[in-house]
Parts: sequence; structure tokens; C-alpha cells
Amino acid sequence: MKVLITGANGQLGREIAKQYKEIKEIDLILAGRSDLDITKVNEVYSFVNKNKPDVIINCAAFTAVDKCETEIDMAYKINTIGPKNLAIAANEIGAEIVQVSTDYVFDGNMHQSLTEFDEVNPQTVYGKTKLEGEKLVRSFNPKHYIVRTAWLYGDGNNFVKTMLNLSETHKTLKVVNDQTGTPTSTVDLARVIIKLVEDKNYGLFHCTCKGQCTWYEFTKEIFRIKGIDTEVLPCTTDQFPRPAKRPEYSVLRNYMLELTTGDITRTWQEAISEYLK
Ligand SMILES: NC(=O)c1ccc[n+]([C@@H]2O[C@H](COP(=O)([O-])OP(=O)(O)OC[C@H]3O[C@@H](n4cnc5c(N)ncnc54)[C@H](OP(=O)(O)O)[C@@H]3O)[C@@H](O)[C@H]2O)c1
Repeated sequence: MKVLITGANGQLGREIAKQYKEIKEIDLILAGRSDLDITKVNEVYSFVNKNKPDVIINCAAFTAVDKCETEIDMAYKINTIGPKNLAIAANEIGAEIVQVSTDYVFDGNMHQSLTEFDEVNPQTVYGKTKLEGEKLVRSFNPKHYIVRTAWLYGDGNNFVKTMLNLSETHKTLKVVNDQTGTPTSTVDLARVIIKLVEDKNYGLFHCTCKGQCTWYEFTKEIFRIKGIDTEVLPCTTDQFPRPAKRPEYSVLRNYMLELTTGDITRTWQEAISEYLK
């Protein structure tokens, strides 16, 4: 099987590539932004036609949530038009497409875990552009896997690394304690994506690690595992205003995985503990 990974130098792209490299039968094409800019329709069509993958896994995205609020055109280009280009190109050659999406498609006001059947209502440019990406992938290629995740960390820039860096220069850190979600390792997400493709289990899926916490609780756990003595103090979102409104409660339930092949993700505590070792 031939697999094309776009955005291959991002956190998730690297992890999926790593896991696929351990499977002999997979012929991998890794395309970073300089190899393939997913916003350029003609480039996408000719790249896909030339390489003829069986599956395209789109790991490319504009993930700087606050920047999306001001760079709106760029957000639509990368998060909406890019996935559309890939979905059409894949469909033309009978290939499948994996599109990765986000908990930000929800408004975060329902204080219960959200399934694939719950109403979406994005509150940010990032969330809106990712949701439109989902819709276009769905409409242009019936052989799609749309996988929503949240609070992702892996090999790249992420919250965990930011907190570890800050701990080196701060004796005390204030971290928001009124946003709840689920930290998710790229290891767990990549495993699920590879399994979905293996099973040809098409459709919309939520995929986060199990459990929930606030950013404050997550930071406390990171520092506990690493034996870091920087004091962590809870604060409110109002004390740290950001351009993009964060969902208050965006715990995803991996309901479609539970109903189909089973949920193989770990608890967020197990996953972060392995990551930090
Ligand atoms: N990170 C999170 O917390 C989080 C949460 C929920 C969902 N997600 C979703 O999970 C997926 C993977 O996220 P991630 O954390 O792995 O992202 P990431 O580390 O930011 O990687 C995204 C990659 O996309 C590339 N890219 C940007 N524009 C491109 C373009 N026009 N053409 C080709 N490549 C382009 C970037 O390249 P450059 O570095 O050169 O710009 C980067 O390597 C994304 O769909 C994201 O929306 C992430």
C-alpha cells in the first residue's frame, strides 16, 4: 500500500511516518510544505497523479489558533481549501483521504463529553475553517476518515514543551484552571489513524486519550512526573485574555471507535508519563 503524508514535518506527520516505517508493506511518500503546498490546486493534482497513493493522510494545518483570528484568508486556504484539493485529487484516482480535525468545532458550553453526533458550533476562525475542511472532504471523497482530536503533543512545539521551558526560568507559574479537555499524544492518535485505514473504517471519529483535566491539572502532572519544583497556581481564562476564545469544556468521547473496532487509546496520564520518559 502506498501512503502519502502531507504536512509530514508536523507533530502528527512525524509520528504517523515513524509508525508506518515499522510496517514493511507500506510504501511511504513524505511531503513537507516545501515538497507540496496543499493550498496550490494544480500542484496538488499533479503531485497526487504522479505519485498515485492509495491513501492520503493530511497532517498539514494552520494550527496557530490565535494567529488564525487575524490571518483569516490563510486559515481558510490551509484548513479548508487544502483539504478540499487533496480530497478531490484523491477521489480522481480512487484513493482514500484522512483529514484531521479538532475539538474547536464545538463551542465548549455543554458540560458533558461530546460525541460525533453532537451539534458543532465553532467560535473561532480556526474552528470554523477546520469544520469547513471536514465538510468539503466529506462531500468530495466518499472514502474519507475524518478524525477529530484535541490538546495534541508529540515531536514539535506544544504545550508540554512550553511549560517545561517556562519552568527553567520561573519559580511560579499561573495556569488556567477553567478550561477542560483531554491531552492527547500523537502516539495514540497515529495508532488509531493507522488502524482506521487498515480496517477501511470510513467516517467521522473522535480520537483523544481517555479522561479529562484542566491545563492547570495537566501542568501539575507534567511537573510531578519530571520532579520539577516550580509552583503552579490556578488562574482563570479572564486573567489571560487571548485573541481566540477557547472552549470551556471540550472533552471528546471516542464514541464511534467504541461502537466499531474499539477504543485503543490510553489514559492521558499513561500517555504523558511515557512521553516524558
Ligand atoms: N496541535 C494541537 O493541539 C491540535 C489539536 C486539535 C487538532 N489538531 C489537528 O491535528 C493535526 C496535526 O496537528 P499538529 O499539531 O501535528 O500540527 P503542526 O505540528 O503545526 O504541523 C502542521 C504542519 O503543516 C504544515 N503546513 C502548514 N501549511 C501548509 C501548507 N500550505 N502545505 C503543506 N503543509 C503545510 C506545517 O509546515 P510549517 O511548519 O512549514 O508551517 C507543519 O509542518 C492538524 O490537522 C491540526 O489541526 C491539532
